[in-house]
Amino acid sequence: MQTRTLAPDERGIAAAAQIIADGQLVAIPTETVYGLAGDARNGAAVARIFEAKGRPSFNPLIVHVADAQTAQTYSDWCDMADRLAQAFWPGPLTLVLPLRAGADLSPLVTAGQTSVALRVPAHPIARALLKASGAPLAAPSANLSGRISPTRPQHVAQGLSGRIAAILDGGRCEVGVESTIIALTGEPTLLRPGGLPIEAIEDALGARLVLRSEDDAITAPGQMASHYAPNATMRLNANDAREGETLLGFGGTRGAALDLSVSGDLIEAAAALFDHLHALDASGATAIAVAPIPERGLGRAINDRLRRAAAPKGQ
Ligand code: TXA
Ligand code: MG
Repeated sequence: MQTRTLAPDERGIAAAAQIIADGQLVAIPTETVYGLAGDARNGAAVARIFEAKGRPSFNPLIVHVADAQTAQTYSDWCDMADRLAQAFWPGPLTLVLPLRAGADLSPLVTAGQTSVALRVPAHPIARALLKASGAPLAAPSANLSGRISPTRPQHVAQGLSGRIAAILDGGRCEVGVESTIIALTGEPTLLRPGGLPIEAIEDALGARLVLRSEDDAITAPGQMASHYAPNATMRLNANDAREGETLLGFGGTRGAALDLSVSGDLIEAAAALFDHLHALDASGATAIAVAPIPERGLGRAINDRLRRAAAPKGQ
């Protein structure tokens, strides 16, 4: 398959909408990372997502919709969902809600579960495509399973060129890490730290989140130990590089090959994270040492991704 690159204009968006209508896949920019989008109502399209990513099956995917009103047609809505949607949608927040009976979604997209993950993305190109196609879009990150999430169209092409119909070019993703996932199927629970700090979510809810422990059952690839992995081995909380290591700094680390944020800004660091890991991989580094990142705000999501990238491969 020849993968086309589509410009982020009216023609490109119309072409992407046609690809979605045909049950094929297009990589789309979102404010977090690039997503590999297919029609969430179309089982064949959803299956193609798993196939293109080489992803272990039965992992549920996030369904992207245009607005909270559309989300309500697929889920059993609740007050907490309303509060969070009003505060943070469109934006880097995914809500896991009970799947509405009779909802027109492929069971593959929810992996046969009785809950569904919904997100209203903020990126103008993603929004334009949702509007033009009218379809709910299943869209996991547009990378091969287990590899680093893509924050630029070039990253998508490296992993998926020849495997998908098109890439909608929206430049670099602003947030740089995936959405924060909150389950509202019981006590509000953090399933994945991400682009929206949990402090902000707790403020909006006026309640603390249940933090799911690392030991809980793996239901999400984002929760597998070894995920987002570069080719190089990784050592975290490093204050300097040992022999043979390339140093990824934070806050102006001395001797760093690249720095996530010289000024120590966690938002800038999140946006740079996957980009820098891609760049270090491309440079041929075989061992990456990463400077300590503070465990607050977006630092939590960054450390979560780094721990997975550092975990032994094959898990
Ligand atoms: O920022 C993002 O969320 C990106 C962009 C493209 O929007 N998408 C993304 O999707 O990260 P994906 O498929 O890579 O991650 C989906 C996560 C997985 O960890 C999955 O298991 C979890 O959401 N998930 C989906 N449905 C779920 C459900 N019903 N219950 C629990 N977890 C669910
Ligand atoms: Mg992913």
